[in-house]
Amino acid sequence: MSITYSDGIIHIQGKSTSLCLMVHPEFGLLNLYWGARLPDGNVAYVLDGITDGASFDLKSSRMPYDLPLRGSGYYQTPALCAVNNMGNDLVKLSYVSHEIYRGKKHIPGLPQVYTEEGDGAQSAEILLTDALTGLTACVTYTLIPETDVITRSMKVINAGNSPVTLTHMMSASIPLYGSDYDVINLSGAWARERHINRTPLAHYGVRIESQRGASGHEQNPFIALSEKTATEHTGSVWAMALVYSGSFLAACDVNNFHTARLSIGLNPETCSWKLMPSEEFQTPEAVLVYSGGGFNGMSQKFHSTIRRRIVRGYWRDEVRPILINNWEATYFNFNEEKIEKIARKAANLGIELFVLDDGWFGRRNTDNCSLGDWVVNTDKLPGGIRGIAEKINGMGMKFGLWFEPEMVSPDSDLYRAHPDWCLHAEGRSRTEARQQLILNLSRREVQDYIISAVSAVLRDAPIDYVKWDMNRNMTEYFSYGREADRQMETQHRYMLGLYRVMDEITSAFPKVLFEGCSGGGGRFDMGMLYYMPQFWTSDDTDPVERLKIQYGTSFVYPASAMGAHVSASPNHQTFRNTSVKMRADVALGGNFGFELDLNTLTDEETASVKESIEFVKKVRKTLQTGTFIRLESPFEGNYAAWEFVSEDQSTVILAAYRRLTAPNPCMKKIFLKSLDENSQYINEQTGKTYSGAALMHAGILFPDTRRDYQSMIQSFRKA
Ligand code: GLA
Repeated sequence: MSITYSDGIIHIQGKSTSLCLMVHPEFGLLNLYWGARLPDGNVAYVLDGITDGASFDLKSSRMPYDLPLRGSGYYQTPALCAVNNMGNDLVKLSYVSHEIYRGKKHIPGLPQVYTEEGDGAQSAEILLTDALTGLTACVTYTLIPETDVITRSMKVINAGNSPVTLTHMMSASIPLYGSDYDVINLSGAWARERHINRTPLAHYGVRIESQRGASGHEQNPFIALSEKTATEHTGSVWAMALVYSGSFLAACDVNNFHTARLSIGLNPETCSWKLMPSEEFQTPEAVLVYSGGGFNGMSQKFHSTIRRRIVRGYWRDEVRPILINNWEATYFNFNEEKIEKIARKAANLGIELFVLDDGWFGRRNTDNCSLGDWVVNTDKLPGGIRGIAEKINGMGMKFGLWFEPEMVSPDSDLYRAHPDWCLHAEGRSRTEARQQLILNLSRREVQDYIISAVSAVLRDAPIDYVKWDMNRNMTEYFSYGREADRQMETQHRYMLGLYRVMDEITSAFPKVLFEGCSGGGGRFDMGMLYYMPQFWTSDDTDPVERLKIQYGTSFVYPASAMGAHVSASPNHQTFRNTSVKMRADVALGGNFGFELDLNTLTDEETASVKESIEFVKKVRKTLQTGTFIRLESPFEGNYAAWEFVSEDQSTVILAAYRRLTAPNPCMKKIFLKSLDENSQYINEQTGKTYSGAALMHAGILFPDTRRDYQSMIQSFRKA
């Protein structure tokens, strides 16, 4: 597991993957191979036989570029384009040097995969330059051996004498042999995030993107190609995900030789960047995963990378508290008495953290005002935040608070004082969504305001958790006062500003647990997880809908990143009735919590909730750090199932769900995976003992309960 250089090839060799680069005197940086592990990098031969086409196409259009450039016979998405002072956007790069070194250089100002001393990470940096304009590209690949992933990013340096405008700057762009693949992406909308799409790759390719100024509900910054025969457990998958929270492009081009090319990076539709002489531009980082073990293999590599090399700080390895949030219990309509009543019941049942959601500040009794005015409403909370927090602490629970720091309501003191602080374009109307505008975080003074306003509240009261919400996407994404030829930088400058704000606040309050949110899961990406270890998965808390949302989210993101709450029945989004056991059994597939008034439950339901809380406390280490294996897809049938295996393999949790019952139903067995065939496993609920082989090959029958929306949770201990 290392990066080596021999016979002109840089061979990045992980546990089960290899990626081979070569510098070509005529064609610049080539990517000769990405896939299953090779014993050595001896693959230069793949260029043999690539010649000019019989009549029309140039040899250059068949080359496997690692950094494809426009204007010399390559016609798909370019990885780097820069308009120069001659008015064209041509770049021609030649090799300057390369370096292989231990570890990974920190990328200033952006979220990223990090390394730790002694973890064996290695990087290869390749420098290429354009002799005519001086534009220079520094491509960095890093191997993270522990989780078997490779990262890639690019820094562009203007070493010439004239300004250039970058119009394409992709984080990764890799050719794959052939085009007979399926494409997998995660798409959705508010309340139905990250549904899995698997479609044959068409000969015109595919373009997955966000132009929203947030990664968004609609698409996730992830794309994968798989062999047509790949399953959850078998077959090859090549995947890319971006460590970024703004507009992105994830594309798969297919050229006329039926060669596929996967690329991911900033969306060129919404970003260009003027680079003055001697300035640099750094792209976000892409995480590349090859799996020979199907989609579960792919997800497990993403999960371990996110858990250990994206999420940082105190909460990385701490078990997460079981929380209760008042949003669906009260919406804006609460006072101290109501909150105390909900909290007391929660504390009695063993819940560890109370989260006060929207409505505690300014005059906010509905969603039409006060965002930006982070001052407590003493009509609702006479003792201020400190008062309510101390009462909650007195019940033995920690206290958490909701903010939406990036926003401003037109009806707010902040907006009245600073009407130019929101994103807008001069002479155009300001489009409101949820009656709010977005603060222009590309401006330093706006960043500083947010840092000081949020920090003041956090300093003033014992706050252990923050829910950081963001409830609309960008419209007029321009910046008051910035030069005209830099207006298209605004979206990315906003993200850089947001990352600075989050970095300052999370570093100043290292023990506070931050949970991201964006109208549910509208900014669920690795960029956010670098600052905030968990994210609210969806505003849709219906357990049946959640099966798909959580299953889809798990394609890239670990259970420890997903907020999942038990809410009221009938559900507020779907009006469906389900048992509290079904709701809890689905919610324990993420960071377990509640979002209802537990006082409204019957005694029987309360007993069931108590049991779920006790169960989660007992097994949450496995739920949060174990290997997650998808067994049955809710996208393919009436059942869903997944399994958690603890890091030391001693504990196994099986979770299975059925949507609808049927008269005289067929028998349905769930087959576990990744157990030790010859070990014995004791079922902790029944005391029965099974061999690993039996659980995997003879399976467990889903009980015939003759009711819709049923679940089965079983935990096993290795004897
Ligand atoms: C968003 C969030 C919800 C809740 C509301 C409050 O919709 O996703 O969980 O916090 O905002 O306004």
